[in-house]
Order: sequence, then C-alpha cells, then structure tokens
Amino acid sequence: MEAVEIAKDVYWVGALDWNGRNFHGFNTPRGTSYNAFLIVGEKNILIDSVKYPFYDQLIGRISSVIDPKKIDLIISNHTEPDHSSSLLRVQQLTGAKILASRKGVEGLRLYYEDIKVEPVQDGQEIKNGSRTLRFIETPFLHWPDSMFTYLVEDGVLFSMDAFGQHLCSSKRFDDEVDESILMFEAAKYYANIILPFGNQVLRTYDKIKDLDLKMLATAHGIIWRKKIDKIVPKYLMWGKYETREKVAVIYDTMWNSTKIMAEEISEAITSQGVEVRLHRIGCTDRATLMEDILEARAVVVGTPTLNTYVFPSVADFMAYARGLKPKDRIGAVFGSYGWGGGACKVVHENLEAAGMMMPFEDLEVRYVPKAEDRQRCRELGVQIAKRVKAKD
Ligand code: FEO
Repeated sequence: MEAVEIAKDVYWVGALDWNGRNFHGFNTPRGTSYNAFLIVGEKNILIDSVKYPFYDQLIGRISSVIDPKKIDLIISNHTEPDHSSSLLRVQQLTGAKILASRKGVEGLRLYYEDIKVEPVQDGQEIKNGSRTLRFIETPFLHWPDSMFTYLVEDGVLFSMDAFGQHLCSSKRFDDEVDESILMFEAAKYYANIILPFGNQVLRTYDKIKDLDLKMLATAHGIIWRKKIDKIVPKYLMWGKYETREKVAVIYDTMWNSTKIMAEEISEAITSQGVEVRLHRIGCTDRATLMEDILEARAVVVGTPTLNTYVFPSVADFMAYARGLKPKDRIGAVFGSYGWGGGACKVVHENLEAAGMMMPFEDLEVRYVPKAEDRQRCRELGVQIAKRVKAKD
C-alpha cells in the first residue's frame, strides 16, 4: 500500500473500494473511495479515517510514510461512519487526540462510546510548525457535524463529502481522469447526497469564496486541482436549484398503458424543441434518475394504479426522491387505472411535498389510451414544454 503525496508533506492515505456498489441505497457502479489525509510535520496529523473494513488499507498507506503510532492528532471533519468508523481503532493504536466540531463531538460520542474527542470552534486555527489549519464549520452540508479543514499556506481545502464523487480510480487528480465521467459522477453525488441542502451550499460558498483554493481534497473520489473552476460554479448552480430546458419523464407500467402515455407526452415535449429524458423505473436505478432530475426544469411521473394505490416501484422512487427535495421545478402526473384509480393522487402529493410546482391536472386514462387519450397526452406534453421554455 502506497500513500500519494498531494502537496509537500501532505499525503492521500485513503482506501479504494473497487467493489462498493451500494451506498445506503445509492447505486455506485464505479465503486468509491474513502479519502483520508496525512500531514507530516512538527505534529503528524491525520484528517478523517475510512470505512471500518478498509482500516488495513489506511494503516498500510500511512506506514509507507511514517510509523502510524507517530500520529499525534486526528481531525474528524464528518461523523458519518464511512469516514469515522476506523477512528476509535486508530486512536487506540496511536493514543492521538481527536478534534471535531461541537456537533461532531456529540455524534462521535453517540457512535463510539469509548472515543476521546475534543471540540473546535468555527474559524479556529491551530499551528503545525510553519503551517496553519483552520476549521470551517459547514453545518448540514450534509450532516449537522460537517466541517472543512483548510490548510492555509498550501491552499488545500479538506472538504469532506462536498465536491465528492463515488468514483474509484487508481488516479487521484481531476486532470488524470475522463472529465465527462468525473462531472457526471460529481452531479450524481450532489443529486443523491447534497440536493436537500442548497441553502447550506450557498452559505458555505460565502465562507470559502475568498480563500486561495489550490486543491479541493474531497472525501470521496477524485481530488480537484485543475478543474476547481468547473465544479464550484456547478455547486453554485445546483445550490440555487437552477435548472435548464430539460424534462425528465419517469414512469413504470403494468400492461403498457402508462408506457404509451409516457411516450406520447415525451414525443410532444420533443416536438417543441425541449430535451427529454425518458426512463422506465427499474431499467434505470434511483440514483441515476436523481442525476437526471438535478438540472431538469420539469419532472413528469407516470404510474399505474395497483389495488387502489401507487405502483410499488413508483412508490419506492417517490419515497427516495421526496426526501431529496428537488424543489422549484414543475411537476406533472399521469397514469392508467382499471376501475378505481388512486395512484396519481399519491404521486401528486409526493411531488408537491418535494417542493415542486404542480400547475397541471393529473392526466388519467382508464384501461388503454384511446385516440382522444393520446391526444390529451400530447397536449399535456406541449403545455409542459411551453412552461419549461417560459421558465415558470
Ligand atoms: Fe461520505 Fe456523509 O459521508
């Protein structure tokens, strides 16, 4: 196991999880990494740890630079166990003090009864020889404990989950990997982890915008050094819930009726010159659907009714999407039923609860769409496209 020097005497000592395919419900087809960092100096400082099964990777990489027992101080930027679940074991090995935000202290003590951890304040600095480490609290980006650590003289921001991607690679830097894959995975990460916290993203931007940023050393995936000017504006756009002329049409179908409706609506939107992404739930995983919603100005969801309720696969997706709150966009609902109906109402309520504007009546069809039903679908598609173009 080798560490990678990312700045003078600053090393990546994280773990590569090539086979990780599920991150609490978020499909991760490209695996992920848990990035930890070692600053060697007057004090040897470890920033974050790794998910518990990868402890040996962490220790192996630290050992390629120093004896791990020589770690003097550990900084915990984030309590979630993918970064904290090796902390106690590292502390038991080294005896090192752990520093965290006030909420981080609370969370770590709740997770790990025997851990010894002390709080730092927002803006507090500590010296390490000629170097300065500054702590920047970023509450709810994306947990209450979340914090950045800024290595002042080097311009390195250890940004925990922010700017992350679930992307496992033998390469460490943004200029060493395919940019389209990197940006896609960064968007997917944002859509599935950070999306509910747009206001906190903007508040955090205000805290870091005047810093000299040479490197964003995120806790997952690739470190940003050459393309900071690409990812930071994207975070600003997403944090403001800005969208573009794009519609996501997402449905499932039982006996093809809802599929026919989805296709009619999508064709009509396309005919107006607006980009459409058409997905049948189950053919595309939840996390990728959320990536498609991230910049979509309208989200159109179709469901059959099954036993007077929403179709189970659509219910699953609604539960996931509602919690992520893709607000400030247009929502619309369509679906088919046999005798009672009821599914569209449930989807409508969920989209509204997610913060969407619902300017259209739900479009429901009994059994199979007839010629007049297909026409209603096309009319709905045209109306959606017009609203999308009008940006309202
Ligand atoms: Fe990568 Fe919120 O943990």
